[in-house]
Amino acid sequence: MTPPTARRRTQFVDAAIDEYAAAHSTPPDAHQFELQRVTQEKTGHAARMQIGDDQAVLMEMLVRAMGATRAVEVGTFTGYSALAVARGLGPGGHLLCCDVSEEWTSIAREAWQKAGVADRIELRIGLGLETLRSLPSGEQFDFAFIDADKTGYAQYYEEVLTRLRAGGLMLLDNMLQGGHVVDDLGDDEDVAAIRSLNDAIAADPRVKVVLLTVGDGVSFVQKL
Ligand SMILES: C[S@@+](CC[C@H](N)C(=O)[O-])C[C@H]1O[C@@H](n2cnc3c(N)ncnc32)[C@H](O)[C@@H]1O
Repeated sequence: MTPPTARRRTQFVDAAIDEYAAAHSTPPDAHQFELQRVTQEKTGHAARMQIGDDQAVLMEMLVRAMGATRAVEVGTFTGYSALAVARGLGPGGHLLCCDVSEEWTSIAREAWQKAGVADRIELRIGLGLETLRSLPSGEQFDFAFIDADKTGYAQYYEEVLTRLRAGGLMLLDNMLQGGHVVDDLGDDEDVAAIRSLNDAIAADPRVKVVLLTVGDGVSFVQKL
């Protein structure tokens, strides 16, 4: 069977260039393709929430290159981004996943089991903010990924930053909001929240940040 074409989420790169880049990047393996297929079948339109294949490879490599062993994710859905992070952590690593949906994360649990990474993932169902606030306040994470409700990002940012080690990385997804951060066409509370957070992070002396045009815009924030 021919595997489906690698799936990227970029909206800001010329299609031919994007296709070329995809053809010269590591494609998803059978577990990842299967998770995409099951997610599409069981969640329909919501499947668009999964990160793209390029972002998954990028995150897995980053986590591995950092030698990260402790990670947290807010917004897990059916587990595609978590699978990438868990692979990067390697055996013995620990990824805490936060989500409100039992239904969607049950698909994740099954996929993690099949892919052999379930041993290093702890899933907590509940509001992401409550889960983060229930954690000890000391530095405990090397890597974090924020991909849940956009109006909650500013609070996730603060809670995660205090628990991130110096030199650790926090990635935040959808920071370009389909391009609406620079126009007034799709203004809603999500766009307003993300615009305001982008301004705050850029001026935050505690971090360095680069907002990349991967996917729907991913901010890489490093704690100084
Ligand atoms: C964009 S999806 C995450 C996609 C996932 N990172 C992936 O690549 O497959 C957003 C997720 O955030 C979850 N979510 C929404 N509000 C939340 C909250 N207040 N706390 C925790 N999770 C929340 C939703 O249930 C959904 O699964």
